[in-house]
Amino acid sequence: MSVSLSHLGPVMLVGAGKMGLALARGWLDAGLRPNHLILVDPAPNPAAMQLAEDYGLTLNSDASGLLPDVLVLAVKPQIIDKVMESLQPIVGPHTLAISIAAGIDIARLSHGLDMGRVVRTMPNTPAQIGKGITGAVAGPDVGTEGRAVAEKLLSAAGPVVWFDDEAQLDAVTAVSGSGPAYVFHMVEALAEAGKKLGLPDAIAEQLARQTVIGSAALLEADPASPATLRQNVTSPNGTTAAGLAVLMEGLTPLIEQTTEAARKRSVELGRG
Ligand SMILES: NC(=O)c1ccc[n+]([C@@H]2O[C@H](COP(=O)([O-])OP(=O)(O)OC[C@H]3O[C@@H](n4cnc5c(N)ncnc54)[C@H](OP(=O)(O)O)[C@@H]3O)[C@@H](O)[C@H]2O)c1
Repeated sequence: MSVSLSHLGPVMLVGAGKMGLALARGWLDAGLRPNHLILVDPAPNPAAMQLAEDYGLTLNSDASGLLPDVLVLAVKPQIIDKVMESLQPIVGPHTLAISIAAGIDIARLSHGLDMGRVVRTMPNTPAQIGKGITGAVAGPDVGTEGRAVAEKLLSAAGPVVWFDDEAQLDAVTAVSGSGPAYVFHMVEALAEAGKKLGLPDAIAEQLARQTVIGSAALLEADPASPATLRQNVTSPNGTTAAGLAVLMEGLTPLIEQTTEAARKRSVELGRG
């Protein structure tokens, strides 16, 4: 089923923070009509106010009196129950709700909004430049059209991967949701290591940063597997082979522990 953003009814974004605004920019770029986007945030930050001004968007401190076709929940998991309770009067069987809150499961969303047309998703931070990836699970009442609308909105931030088994979304959170922070930390660690090897601070940071930028771009440009790309730059008995011998010993178990900790935290957040 094909859905056009330019024909979508009112979309209400609740929580105009980093991720919510990234999505909103993507929707506007992809053709959502500005008069069909409502931002709700009790204390909007300067970026939200600027976006509202640039596009002439409605920016409200609360949602009362408005009836959106699509409600996107982009508030922190810690406050989502309170926010959903306040939204109950404006949602009904006609509303499609999409949550990006980490760990909050379909049952809790359906209970909080008192309706079943809910989609639970997990985007990631490269969504800010349209290079994200989002995992999504549809609640039982979403239907084909609701799923198509959700896919259209979410794909403004990058590809969408749908799951039938909701438990897998905790694993998605641990891998791609939290993953960009692991990669940023890799840059920090590489820069620190460069400094320890005697490079000036700024140069070490530039080398580490550009190495990850360039490697990611290569990964995007070349269809070869990451293992093949790695092997392509590893001459037998060379410098990369010497470094990788150490890294590969420790990194796989460490990443497994890292993702398991993040998955467990996602499950805990869901319990509230
Ligand atoms: N950032 C990521 O990489 C990422 C990735 C995947 C999923 N997520 C999920 O996305 C959600 C938002 O994360 P974020 O990083 O965008 O956080 P954020 O920047 O703190 O955005 C949340 C926004 O909601 C606002 N808010 C607070 N109370 C509200 C209310 N009652 N009604 C409406 N808005 C309210 C906050 O305002 P104040 O600042 O004034 O409190 C803030 O502007 C979280 O649930 C997170 O799990 C984030």
